[in-house]
Amino acid sequence: MSTELLSQEPATPSSPIHRIGVVGGGTMGSGIAEVCARAGLDTLVIEVDHAAVNNARAKIEQSLNKAVSRNKLAADTRDLALDSISFSTDLGDLADRDLAIEAVIESLEEKLSVFRAMDKVMSPTAIMATNTSSIPIITLGSITSRSDMVLGMHFFNPAPVQPLVELVRSLGTAPETMERADHFVVEVLGKQVIRCRDRAGFVVNRLLVPYLLDAIRMFDEGKVSAADIDSGMMHGCGHPMGPLSLCDLIGLDTVEAVADVLYEEFKGSHNAPPPLLRRMVAAGHLGRKTGRGFYEYG
Ligand code: 3HC
Repeated sequence: MSTELLSQEPATPSSPIHRIGVVGGGTMGSGIAEVCARAGLDTLVIEVDHAAVNNARAKIEQSLNKAVSRNKLAADTRDLALDSISFSTDLGDLADRDLAIEAVIESLEEKLSVFRAMDKVMSPTAIMATNTSSIPIITLGSITSRSDMVLGMHFFNPAPVQPLVELVRSLGTAPETMERADHFVVEVLGKQVIRCRDRAGFVVNRLLVPYLLDAIRMFDEGKVSAADIDSGMMHGCGHPMGPLSLCDLIGLDTVEAVADVLYEEFKGSHNAPPPLLRRMVAAGHLGRKTGRGFYEYG
């Protein structure tokens, strides 16, 4: 039987996923690519230009080196992971991938254009996943010819450290796609899965983001310092970091984008982005990635 015929066989829950494409090498994309490469998978990262490729490569190397320095990873496993990652600026190179995970910026226009392009070049049995935290999965699935093979695969920042992945099934996603993705994330990547409906914020952000917005409002009232708000939640509730540090880690533009979508879908003043968040985003004070948010970063 020819390879071509084999590739036409219907995918089953056990159909292997060996070759991964990650579209976007920013904070989340580079973290997801690192997770895949650490699992020994052939991982291709697509970025817009060579400067962005170099940036993504540097982020992955830095994180892998940190893992080695913290004794979380052996040096030879780091080297193998680095060897498993390749980079390209051509979406057409996704043609031989079994799974693509889109992790570009939270812009509907940008994501629609990536999904249209991926649908044209990828094999008909390939799964297309999105790491979106705010855009309905059905909206992305519907502009492809394979809504049944499109799902949400939502990682948490930093992706190499956080164990959870939310798997999001849209009204169009086939149960077989969920099974394949679940098997891949749990058995191959070694992560923990929760399954979510295609509703704004899924499970985690729907609970997390109103809490972050409340912390911003409290800070804006001017009666408690950022350090005390963070210290309160770390030492009073055992959180690994306080809410304002977490906003800086996630990126204030992303917090705003998720809040906008939560508010649009559910209303409720707790979901409305506070004025200070709007102003900080307008000023480009987006958190760690721009060197300034609620704190400054050297
Ligand atoms: N690879 C492997 N392990 C790593 C690592 C890496 N690159 N970087 C850090 N670690 C490990 C460390 O070894 C350490 O493990 P240990 O506790 O077993 O010793 C642990 O992670 C913490 O590391 P550090 O104490 O050095 O602290 P860092 O500053 O490096 O990182 C943190 C801290 C992991 C970010 C921690 O503060 C944390 O978990 N914060 C909460 C983050 C969170 O809530 N993320 C979810 C955001 S929401 C989201 O992403 C959704 C989006 O849609 C908005």
